[in-house]
Amino acid sequence: MLPTIGNLRPWADPRINQINRLPMHSTIVREKRLSLDGEWSFNLFSHPDDVDAVVLKDLQRGKTVVVPGNWTMQDTGDLPHYTNVQMPFSGAPPELPERIATGVYRRRLAVPTDWCGSQTVLSVGGAESVHAVFINGEFVGYGTDSRLPSEYDISKFLVTGENILAIVVVRYSAMSFIEDQDQWWMAGLHRSIHIESRDEVCIVDVVCDTDFDSKKKLGNLTTTTEVRFLGDNQAGFTVRTSLFSPSGKLVGQTRSKTVPHVATQPYLFVGHKTSFNWTVKNCAAWSAEVPNLYQVETELVTVLGEVIETVRTKIGFRRVEVKDRKLLVNGQPIWIFGVNRHDHHPDTGSTVSIEDMRRDLVVMRSHNITAIRCSHYPNNSAFYQLCDELGMYVVDEANIEGHAFNTSICDDDSYRSAFVERGARMVQRDRNHPSIILWSLGNETGYGANHDALAGWIRRTDSSRPLHYEGAIFHGDKNRISTSNWVDGGLRASDIVCPMYASIDAIKKYGDSGLGTRPLIMCEYSHAMGNSNGSLADYWQVIGTTSGLQGGFIWEFKDHGLRQRVGADKLRLAVGGDFGDLPNDRNFVADGLVSSDCEPHPAMQEVAWVYRPITAESRRVNGRKKILLTNRQSFVGSEDYVASFELLVDGKVTKHGKLPAWKVDAKSTKLFALPCPVVAPTKSDVYLNIYWRLKRDQWFAPKHHCVAWDQIELQRKPRTKVKVELRGGAADHGSISAFEKLLVSPVGLCVWRAPVDNDGYKLMPELLEKQGTGGQALRNWQQVGLDRVSAEDLVDHKVVRTSSKDGRTIIFEHRVVVPKSLDDLPRIGVQFSLPDGFDSIRWFGRGPGENYPDRNSGSMLGEWTAVPDVPPYLVPQEFGLRTDMRWLELISSSSGQIVRVEVLEPSAMHFSATNYSAHDLFAAENQVDLRPRKELVVHLDVAHRGLGTASCGPDVLKKYRLQAGKYLFSYRVTVS
Ligand code: GAL
Repeated sequence: MLPTIGNLRPWADPRINQINRLPMHSTIVREKRLSLDGEWSFNLFSHPDDVDAVVLKDLQRGKTVVVPGNWTMQDTGDLPHYTNVQMPFSGAPPELPERIATGVYRRRLAVPTDWCGSQTVLSVGGAESVHAVFINGEFVGYGTDSRLPSEYDISKFLVTGENILAIVVVRYSAMSFIEDQDQWWMAGLHRSIHIESRDEVCIVDVVCDTDFDSKKKLGNLTTTTEVRFLGDNQAGFTVRTSLFSPSGKLVGQTRSKTVPHVATQPYLFVGHKTSFNWTVKNCAAWSAEVPNLYQVETELVTVLGEVIETVRTKIGFRRVEVKDRKLLVNGQPIWIFGVNRHDHHPDTGSTVSIEDMRRDLVVMRSHNITAIRCSHYPNNSAFYQLCDELGMYVVDEANIEGHAFNTSICDDDSYRSAFVERGARMVQRDRNHPSIILWSLGNETGYGANHDALAGWIRRTDSSRPLHYEGAIFHGDKNRISTSNWVDGGLRASDIVCPMYASIDAIKKYGDSGLGTRPLIMCEYSHAMGNSNGSLADYWQVIGTTSGLQGGFIWEFKDHGLRQRVGADKLRLAVGGDFGDLPNDRNFVADGLVSSDCEPHPAMQEVAWVYRPITAESRRVNGRKKILLTNRQSFVGSEDYVASFELLVDGKVTKHGKLPAWKVDAKSTKLFALPCPVVAPTKSDVYLNIYWRLKRDQWFAPKHHCVAWDQIELQRKPRTKVKVELRGGAADHGSISAFEKLLVSPVGLCVWRAPVDNDGYKLMPELLEKQGTGGQALRNWQQVGLDRVSAEDLVDHKVVRTSSKDGRTIIFEHRVVVPKSLDDLPRIGVQFSLPDGFDSIRWFGRGPGENYPDRNSGSMLGEWTAVPDVPPYLVPQEFGLRTDMRWLELISSSSGQIVRVEVLEPSAMHFSATNYSAHDLFAAENQVDLRPRKELVVHLDVAHRGLGTASCGPDVLKKYRLQAGKYLFSYRVTVS
C-alpha cells in the first residue's frame, strides 16, 4: 500500500485534483534548473494498492525505462490500448477496473550544492493518467491532468547528498473518464521532468495582457508580476520591467515599483503583485502572417539594488474579437485554414520532441495550413512558443473529454472542480502566447453546468480571447440537438459556432440566414481517414462566398499508427486491436492527412490548394477574359511571392514568364489582363497556369516553393465525338491485337474498387450496424456481391473490339447499362494487366499526384510522368487514380515497349496503374501485408465514385455518385 495516500485512494476520487501541488503560472525558465530526463528504474504493479513502500526507495529492482516516455511503448509488458468513444474498461464513473497498471519510477536525486537554502521545486511535465510523488519514501504530493505540468515544493523532503525520487503513475483513474479522447490510451511520464531552484523571494508569475488598436496602431500592455516570499514577507523588493521591440530596442521607459509585502489595507490588497502599463505607438502587431514578438523583461531587485532574478517573456500585440458574425484579428477577419493536431509519434507515442513539433509545423505550413486546434488538450509549452515565433493561429483546448458519458459528466458535481481546474490551469500557463486566439473548453463532453463554471472563470480572467466549445452549440441550452442551437444555443460557453462534420448545405444555410452573432468555424471537418477529403474544394467554394463562414480545422493532421514488431523481421504500424487490446476501434485512429511518420498523404495537395493564400479566377469584363486575383491574407500583400504563368496548348507549354506587375494587397482583389495573347489553333485546349512562388527562403520551405497555383481554362476544344478511326484498315473483330497478346490479364469490365474507409469500415463493419456510423456503400456493394461476382453478371455490357490489320492498334467501344438496383457503384470501367517491366507512366490529365473526381481541384491538367504509386494508406484501400486523362502511355523499361491509350469517348477518362489489384487491397489489413505484383494493374474508368468523408461526416455528394443508366466509352490502344 502506498504511504500516506494508500487509504485515501485519490486516483479513485474525481474531486481530488491535487494534493500539495503548487499554483499554476505562466512558463518561466529559471537559470537553476536540472533536467531529470533520462533513464529511470521502473517497476510495474497491477494496482496502486499493490505498490509496496520498499520499492519507492529501491533502485535495484525492476527494469530501466526512458523519461519522457510512455511505458506502454517500452517493452514493459503493458501495452497501448485504442478506443474512440468507449472507455477501455466497463463501469460508470468513477468505477475503475480491478486491474490498474501502476508504474513506479525511481531515480537518484542530488541537488546541486549551490541550491542550498532556497526552495527546490519538482516539475512533472505530464503523467498519464495521475501521479504521486515520493522522496526517500515520503509522500510529497499528488497531481492530475495528464497534459499540464504539476509542480511540488520538495525542499523539506530532501536530505543532503543523495535522495531517491519516486513517481508513481496510475494508468486509469477517476480522471480517465474526462480524458476519454479518441487516441491511444498510454501510460507513464510522457513529458519532461525537472527540478529547479527558487530563491526565498522570487517571481512566481508574470502575466502579460496585450491589446492592439489597428486604427491607431497603438499597442497596449499590462504586466502583472507576482512575487512569493517563502519566509517572512520582506519590505523593499522592487519589480523592474522593461519592454523591448522585435529588433531589441527598449520601448518607452523601464518601470519599477515596490512589491507590496504586507496587506496594510486588506480590503484593497491584491497580493504581492505589481502591475505596469505601456502604450506603444506605431506598434508592430502580431499576426500569424507577421509574427512580431516583443520581449518583456522582468527583474526582481533587492533593497540594495541587486538584481536577483530576471524573467523574459515573449509577447505579441494583437486583438482578437467576435463582431458581426466575424472572428477578427487586429480588426480583420481571418481565414481559418486549419487542422486538428494531436501529439503523436509512431515510436514514442504521445511523447514528442521539439523537433517533432517543429516538423509537424513545417509540413503544415508548407501546405498552407495556418491554424491549429490543439485537439484535445494543452500541448507542451514549447509548442506555443514555436507557434508564436513562426506564426500560427492556435485554439488551445482544455484536457476535458468525457465522450463515453457524454451527457452526464458535464453536470456531475463530483467532476465540477476538475473541469474548472483543468481549464483554469491551461489559461494560467498559456495566456501570454499571442498565437492562442481562442480558448476551448474541451471536446465532446455534452454541455452542462461544469462547462458554464469554467467558461465563467475564463471570461472573467482573460476576456481577451473568445471561447470555443462544440458541445455548447451541438447540445444547446436545453440539450435539444438541432442546428437552431447554432443561432442562439450555448452562448455562455461558445462565441464561435464550431460544429463538427457539418454538411455544406448546413453551413451555407447558417451563413445565408444572417441569424445570430457568431461566426461559423468548423472545429472538425473533412475526416482524413484513409483515401478521403472528398469535396474539400466544394466546402471552400461555399465558405469563400458566404458571409458568416470562416473556415475550419480538418480532422486530423497525423495518423496514429504505432510501430510494432511482428515476428522476427516485420515492422508494421499498429492500429487498435493489434496489441490484443479489447475493446478497440481498429483503424479509426489512422485518420490523418499525413502518415504516422509525417509523410503527406495525397490529399495534402488538395489541402494546399484550397488553403492557398492567393487565388486566380477568370472573369469576363466587357467581353474580354481577365484574371481576377484575390489575396486571402489579412495583413500582407503578395510581395513575398513571385508570380509566373505558363500557357498550355493541348498539354504543351507554349509560353511562360514572370508577372512582376501582378501585385495584390492584403484582403483585396484585383483584375489583370491575360499575361499573353492566346496564340493557338481554335480546335485546341488552352489553359493558363498561374504560380506564386516564395521570393526567399522561409522557415517552412526554400525559395521558389510554390505556395499557390491555379489553372484557368481559356479555350476548349469542341467536344465533338471523335471519329473512331483505325489507321491501316480494320481487321475482323476476331483477330488478336499486339496489345492483347501482351496482356497478363485481359481487358475486362470492372465496377468494383477496394473500398476506401469512407465507403465503409472494412475492419469493423459491426460499427455501422451497432452505432450507425460510417459509410453504407460497402455494405450495399457486398450485399449485391460486387466484391465476388463478375461485373459481366451484374450489369449489361457490350464491347466491340476492332483491331488494325497489322494488330498494332485496337479500338474498344463499350456500352454499359447499370440497372436501377445498382445505383451508386464504385466505378465503371475496364481493367487489364501488363507484364513485369512496365514501370513508367506518362499521361495527359490531372496530376501529378493521385486525385479523384471530388478531390482534384488542386491537381492541374498537364503532361506528367511517374512510376506506379506505392500504396500510401495504412489500411490498404483504393489508391492512385488520376482523373481527366486524355491519353496515357505505359512504358516498359525492360522491353522498351510503349502501350498508348487514347480516349475517344467521352473526352476524358480516369485511370490508375499500380502493382496491386482491388482484391489484393481489400484482402489486406495492414500495408505491410501487401506484396506488389510484378504486373502492372491498369484501370480505365469512365466514371469513378467520389471519396466524400463518410467515415465521419457527409457521404459523397450526389454529383460525384454514379447513377444507374447508360455509359458509353471507347479508346484506342497502340503498341509500339
Ligand atoms: C470527433 C472527435 C475526434 C475524433 C473524430 C473522428 O468526434 O472530436 O476526437 O474522434 O471525431 O476521428
